[in-house]
Amino acid sequence: MRVGVVGAGYVGLVAAAGLALGGHQTVIAEANPSRLARLRERRAPFLEPGLDEWLRRAGERLSVVSSVKEMGPRDAIVIAVGTPSGVSGQGDLTQVRQAVEEVVRTAAPGTVIVMKSTVPPGTGRELVRQYVAPARRGLAYVSNPEFLREGKALYDWLHPDRIVVGAEEGWAAERVAELYRGIDAPVLRTDITSAEMIKYAANALLATKISFINEIANLCELVGAHIDDVATGVGMDPRLGPHFLQAGIGYGGSCFPKDTRALYFTAAVNGYAFELLRAVIEVNRRQRIRVVHRLNTLLGGLAERSVAVLGLAFKPGTDDTRESPGLEIARTLAGYGAKVQVYDPVAVLPDSGGSPGFPVVLSPGLVRVASLEEAVRSAQAVVVATEWPEFVEADWERLYRLMAAPRVVFDGRNCLDAARLAAMGFRYVGVGRRVAPAFGDADVAPASLAEGTGGA
Ligand code: UGA
Repeated sequence: MRVGVVGAGYVGLVAAAGLALGGHQTVIAEANPSRLARLRERRAPFLEPGLDEWLRRAGERLSVVSSVKEMGPRDAIVIAVGTPSGVSGQGDLTQVRQAVEEVVRTAAPGTVIVMKSTVPPGTGRELVRQYVAPARRGLAYVSNPEFLREGKALYDWLHPDRIVVGAEEGWAAERVAELYRGIDAPVLRTDITSAEMIKYAANALLATKISFINEIANLCELVGAHIDDVATGVGMDPRLGPHFLQAGIGYGGSCFPKDTRALYFTAAVNGYAFELLRAVIEVNRRQRIRVVHRLNTLLGGLAERSVAVLGLAFKPGTDDTRESPGLEIARTLAGYGAKVQVYDPVAVLPDSGGSPGFPVVLSPGLVRVASLEEAVRSAQAVVVATEWPEFVEADWERLYRLMAAPRVVFDGRNCLDAARLAAMGFRYVGVGRRVAPAFGDADVAPASLAEGTGGA
């Protein structure tokens, strides 16, 4: 098939490369000049393991242009532009509207418009009413949400759990299913709005699992239970499953925070108060603040305290710092007067031009340094915000010698060996993790107040 893709972000570029490798003549339109230049050199403008190789392998089947009108006639045009958060948390659909409007204006009759950008439920129906139907050129609109994870996007493209096709016309749905020929996955046919809702409901439920396990972890600290064992025991029930039960400082990234806010907003403008989702969002916010509170207690204040924050990418395997918990914690600590040194092996900060020299002063009291050792040197506390292997496998005995008392390690991802670090002399603090009593930190595991013991 002749396929067009609008937007070379994570979703668009992975889809374009995947479609080209799947045998489709694919052209990708990207308006941003620096992204375009990198694409022309067959290099992805962001870190996604294996994607450069896919771009090279796609060869002649993948071409790059700077606008939709240069694409030429296409059987299907996939829209994968950004949908950032608007001021009230609603999805900002400016780019989506522009793309749809341009495609409708320039596409050949019979083209199928495939929406992969995450748009709030009801959007597709509205776009059809506003742009597609009035054009009267036999265009069809299909919602085809994407479930790729950053860092594992190529695997997810080849092995999706499902392909969701939301369409009103059977021929258009079949054409979209045909895009994925050769990929072994069930195809779920539905209407446009339900397809849009599937994407939001899936992300919201995953976010709910994370906030839920974080609340359980917080409670574990109060009653003296161990979240690692609790999560394992819960996850052994196949109805609940072992995934997304990793407690820590909460979710970040370009998807969960934005999509939960947008779904909450969508509910609100439809007159529904989505209380559970509100709590999920609030718990996630609080997990980050708890780190600041804990350090304030353990260090006896924050002003002039020296703290290292390890990990700015919102998770390992990506350079993406959007809604990064580590970055927010570092900024908050610096705001309270702490001297904060941050380190991440690959993270790209939008305000430092992509490839900064080091050290970089990000704001007063907040410095990005070039190595793990530099970050922890003289630090009184370390916050592990991203579970990069470099941090998990670090020589913590050496780091102990570089640090200054009281040598707090706040393991925000529960990724370190708590007992080992405590034995080395660190004041180890995880999220819902019980540390051996020898550690003696009453702040971590105070006496349990079991329900009912105080009654008559
Ligand atoms: C997420 C979904 O997993 C994808 O299915 C979806 O396609 C994508 O959003 C999207 O909507 O585009 P992604 O944002 O790449 O993918 O990252 P995840 O691997 O899901 O992790 C999100 C955040 O949750 C990370 O900050 C991670 O550290 C955190 N997390 C994840 C936890 O805190 N605990 C867990 O148990 C799992």
